[in-house]
Amino acid sequence: MIQNILMMWPIADAQIKDLEENYKVFKLWQEADPESALGRIRKDITGIVSIVSDKCIVSGKLIRALPNLEIIAHCGVGYDNIDMKTAKEQGIVVTYTPDVLTDDVADIATGLVLTVLRRMVESDLYVRTGQWAKKGSMPLGRTLAGRIMGIVGMGRIGQAIARRAEVFGMKVIYFGPNKKSEVSYRYYSDLHKMAEECDVLMLACSYSEATHYLIDSKVLKLLGKNGVLINISRGKVVKEQDLIDALEGGVIAGAGLDVFENEPNVPSALCRLDNVVLQSHQGSATVETRTIMSQLVVDNLKLYFEKAEVLTPI
Ligand code: DGY
Repeated sequence: MIQNILMMWPIADAQIKDLEENYKVFKLWQEADPESALGRIRKDITGIVSIVSDKCIVSGKLIRALPNLEIIAHCGVGYDNIDMKTAKEQGIVVTYTPDVLTDDVADIATGLVLTVLRRMVESDLYVRTGQWAKKGSMPLGRTLAGRIMGIVGMGRIGQAIARRAEVFGMKVIYFGPNKKSEVSYRYYSDLHKMAEECDVLMLACSYSEATHYLIDSKVLKLLGKNGVLINISRGKVVKEQDLIDALEGGVIAGAGLDVFENEPNVPSALCRLDNVVLQSHQGSATVETRTIMSQLVVDNLKLYFEKAEVLTPI
């Protein structure tokens, strides 16, 4: 029996082709009226391919509307776009793509630390707009070495960021629900204490009820006027309006943001600030990593439909 796959948003081209050679693939993003297209095909769908995007909300309503759905193969490490409770209740297998994107995400996080502290984006603009020639040297940046990075979430990505921070001579401390036996960095069970202690507050946790709006005006105040916030996790871990107020009011020194509360919409207040570096959720966005992630999606689907097994279940 041919399997019918609902692809909500494209993965890498070669892997789409591979899926099309083996299954019937419905490309939802190409439909002029996705709702009515779903109405026509919903009973045939046995698998979903989703990716980390606002275009891929795998809601409980969607899961329940697909009576023959067996597997959701998600392309990404964070899966807060999937209603896992409903998926579990309905006995749906869900897979994701951990590990393969760790280095790229950690690189973006490190890049944000560098660009914010060393004012690299500001400097780029300074050169391009002729201000260097007109005004002379730019205001000075800040040294990375000797600064303390406080990481929220010492998982795979947090640990990869910590290793990079050490190479730059930074000291690493961390906060999370549990002390990790595999690392020797100082552990804080109290986020407020860590925020007070660190210079760079790095968000590398997953998004859940427990991390919703974890970073608010109180945490930012404790981070202090020389502190920098970097977020490569999820936008909703931060109360965005509190962050804007803190940046505008000089409560913290700057921020590097790869993720936002309401992607792809970024508040104009953030875009106006020159002590902020903005990225369009680029953590895993390299040709190499997206190819490997997409291949893992394909491999999970194939293994599931051939042997009822998967490589990377959630
Ligand atoms: C993911 O896969 O969850 C990350 O957000 C990629 O940047």
